[in-house]
Amino acid sequence: MFCLTVDNDIKLCLREERHAEELFALVDENRAYLREWLPWLDANTSPEDSRLFIKSTLEQFANNQGFQVAIVYRGRLAGMIGYHKIDWANRSADIGYWLAAKFQGQGIITRACRFLADYAFGELELNRVVIRAAVENHKSRAVPERLGFTNEGTARQVEWLYDHFVDLVVYGALAAEWKKENSEL
Ligand SMILES: CC(C)(COP(=O)(O)OP(=O)(O)OC[C@H]1O[C@@H](n2cnc3c(N)ncnc32)[C@H](O)[C@@H]1OP(=O)(O)O)[C@@H](O)C(=O)NCCC(=O)NCCS
Repeated sequence: MFCLTVDNDIKLCLREERHAEELFALVDENRAYLREWLPWLDANTSPEDSRLFIKSTLEQFANNQGFQVAIVYRGRLAGMIGYHKIDWANRSADIGYWLAAKFQGQGIITRACRFLADYAFGELELNRVVIRAAVENHKSRAVPERLGFTNEGTARQVEWLYDHFVDLVVYGALAAEWKKENSEL
């Protein structure tokens, strides 16, 4: 229900509150690994927290601010990806993502990100897509680099990660260059 098809293996699906237990179980299994780079783990300690998160994603979608969706890989929940609130005034969106550890190394996020960039520039007619990743988060940085995003520089001490600030590398893609390089659009 309410899924976008990336390819034969990957679907991007809106979650409903009934999926909270499954989402929480995946987060909880991957807690230590995800906590290295994501700031919300200590605020997500029960299925109720995942239910509230899912509710917020449905509100975001209903409010025309873009969507955050489950990554379903060969029928199994593998992680989440989506747009942070779309900036319609400037026709720009940030993409964020995470994958359970055991699903890494298969190009799932790269393929899902390529799809969401195509969707942003094509369907949503946005002009700019941004992916930000911590300087030391090499696996995350490799995703926009693989997709040909431009490294636009490093913003300093942008994110508070439990007990320290991290610097984020800003990767941007623009509609004109994306369409030129991905001519199927
Ligand atoms: C960041 C994160 C999503 C990256 O996961 P990932 O599996 O490395 O990324 P992808 O799914 O795109 O897979 C890329 C890997 O699959 C390989 N691969 C296989 N088939 C591929 C394909 N068709 N296309 C692209 N890559 C492919 C690539 O070579 C690469 O392998 P490598 O790491 O050995 O070089 C994951 O490590 C994660 O969730 N980390 C914790 C949370 C986090 O940091 N989130 C991001 C915050 S900014």
